[in-house]
Amino acid sequence: MKILWVLILLLGTIVCMAGEKGGRNRSFKPGELWPDNQGIHINAHGGGMLKVGKIWYWFGEHKVEGRNGNSAQVGVHCYSSRDLYNWKDEGIALKVVTDNPEHDITRGCILERPKVIYNRKTDKYVMWFHLEPKGKGYSGALSGIAVSDRVTGPYTYLKAVRPNAGFWPINVPEQRQDKNANSGEQVFNGGSLPENVGDLSLLKRDFTGGQMARDMTLFVDDDGKAYHIYASEENSTLQISELTEDYLDYSGKYARFFAGRFMEAPAMFKKDGKYYLIMSGCTGWAPNAARSAVADSIWGPWKELGNPCRGKDAEKTFYSQSTYVLQVGKDRFIYMGDRWTPENAIDGRYIWLPLEFEDGKPVLKWVDEWDLSWFNHRK
Ligand code: GAL
Repeated sequence: MKILWVLILLLGTIVCMAGEKGGRNRSFKPGELWPDNQGIHINAHGGGMLKVGKIWYWFGEHKVEGRNGNSAQVGVHCYSSRDLYNWKDEGIALKVVTDNPEHDITRGCILERPKVIYNRKTDKYVMWFHLEPKGKGYSGALSGIAVSDRVTGPYTYLKAVRPNAGFWPINVPEQRQDKNANSGEQVFNGGSLPENVGDLSLLKRDFTGGQMARDMTLFVDDDGKAYHIYASEENSTLQISELTEDYLDYSGKYARFFAGRFMEAPAMFKKDGKYYLIMSGCTGWAPNAARSAVADSIWGPWKELGNPCRGKDAEKTFYSQSTYVLQVGKDRFIYMGDRWTPENAIDGRYIWLPLEFEDGKPVLKWVDEWDLSWFNHRK
C-alpha cells in the first residue's frame, strides 16, 4: 500500500513538472523575459490583441537577433492564451516572402505594428500593418492588408496602400481644400515642422497619391465600424480613417488631429462612451513621455490630457512605447507597451501595466509584478 502511495506521488510530481515545461506564469512581470509554452521569450513586438470566444490572440512583429531584427525577417507571430499570463506559440500568421525580392512583403522589408480584427459580415480575420518596401527606409509609409479565414492564419497578403487618395479630411473646411501642393519634397522625421511649411502643406502634397501612414492601430467600435489610426503627414499629424464594411479598405471618410504634435504609437480604447488615445512622442526607438487624449466622438474634437505616467521614469513612459490598450472587463484596461532594444531587436521586452483613471484621466504607475486580481483590490 505504502509503495502505491509513493508511486502515485512520484507520478504526480512528474506530471506537474511536465506541465510546467516553459514555466507556468501566474503574474505579469513588466520588462522581464516572458517565456511562452516552450520556454522561449515571446516574440510579438509592436503587437495587438484579439479575443475570440474565451481565447486571446496576440499578434506582433517577430524579431531576430541584432540590428537586422529591426526589419522583417520572418513575419507576424501569433500566440494564444486563456489567462493572459501563459501564451502558446501559434506560429507565424503572416510570413514574409523569401523567393521574390520584388514582392511588397519580401524578407527585409519593414513590417510593423500588426493588428488583427474580425469582420462579422464576411467572417474573415483582417490584418493591417505599417509597411515599408525593402531598401526604401521609412519613405513608403504604406498600410499593408492581409486576410484569413482562421484567426491564427495563414494570412493572405492582399495589398499595400496609401490612405484616402483624392479625398479631403472631413475636418478641413471646403474653402481650404485647394489641391496646390506648396511643400515641395520636404521630409521630416521628428521634432517640429520647419516654419516655411504651411499647416496643410503635407496633406495637400499627398492629396493625389494618398496620405502617409506609419505607426498605427485599428479600433472596432460598438456599432461594428472599424477605424485605422495612424501617424501621417511625415508623422506630424495623426489621422483617423474609417474602413469599408469588409475592413479591407478605406471608406474615404477621415479626419486629422493633433496637427504638428508628432504623435506615434497610437492605442485607442473606449470607456463610458468616451474615446481615449494613448500615444508617444516621436523619437524613434528611444522612449519619451507618453501622451493621452479624450473625445466624445471618434471624429473629435480630441482634447489632450497630458502624460498619463506617474512616478519614477514617468517622463520615459517607464522605458516603453505604447502599442495597445486591452480591455479585460468593465473599467479594466491593460496598457501594453514595448521596451525596444534596437541593437538586439529580439530582446525587446513587454511592459504591461494596469491602466487606472483619476479625475477622468488615464493614469499609469509602475508595478514590478501584478496579476488580474489587481483590479479587484484597487480603491
Ligand atoms: C518608433 C516606432 C516604431 C518604429 C521605430 C523606428 O518610433 O514606434 O514602430 O517605426 O520608430 O525608428
